[in-house]
Amino acid sequence: MNPNPSKYTQLKNRILAFIALILVLSFGIFLITWIQNDAGSTLDADKEEGTLSASDSLKLAIEQDGKDRDPETQLVLGKGFEIVKANCTNCHSSALLIQNRFTREGWKAKIEWMQETQGLWPLGESEDDILDYLAEHYAPEAYVGRRAPLKDIEWYELN
Ligand code: HEC
Repeated sequence: MNPNPSKYTQLKNRILAFIALILVLSFGIFLITWIQNDAGSTLDADKEEGTLSASDSLKLAIEQDGKDRDPETQLVLGKGFEIVKANCTNCHSSALLIQNRFTREGWKAKIEWMQETQGLWPLGESEDDILDYLAEHYAPEAYVGRRAPLKDIEWYELN
């Protein structure tokens, strides 16, 4: 019947091995994607019961303030965002910006310090836009992870 059974069997085995390989690979990719999604969506607190880590409270604050953020840098999207991303995330991560709060003058001083000591290039005409962006979104009064301090409180007398 089959003129060359050994060749036929060889071919069949190769095809089976190939199909098995594809199955294993797709399962692997599925598993990796699933694990990553899972890690992304769980708070650290789910792993260690009862404690909120700093990254948890940042995640919660970010979820609650409703602002749109750049998925890559977590910088708030807004006027000047692109220019800040282009100039301020080359040497260090955006975390250094996000975790700091300064006034416009404060940000200007940081930029001057980086220019004098860390090799930050002159920002030219972009500097104003960068400072506007930072002063608007990362100002001292823009709290992350806790409420702003109470203002204009009417204290009552204790008799
Ligand atoms: C040429 C490289 C470079 C670029 C570009 C750069 N920085 Fe920095 N920056 C540094 C270095 C180096 C440090 C110190 C890092 C450290 O302490 O680990 C730093 C630190 C900082 C800090 C922390 C300062 C502190 O007092 O803790 C802030 C905030 C900051 N950079 C903001 C910015 C902003 C805003 C921009 C865009 C205008 C920017 N950086 C662009 C090099 C750079």
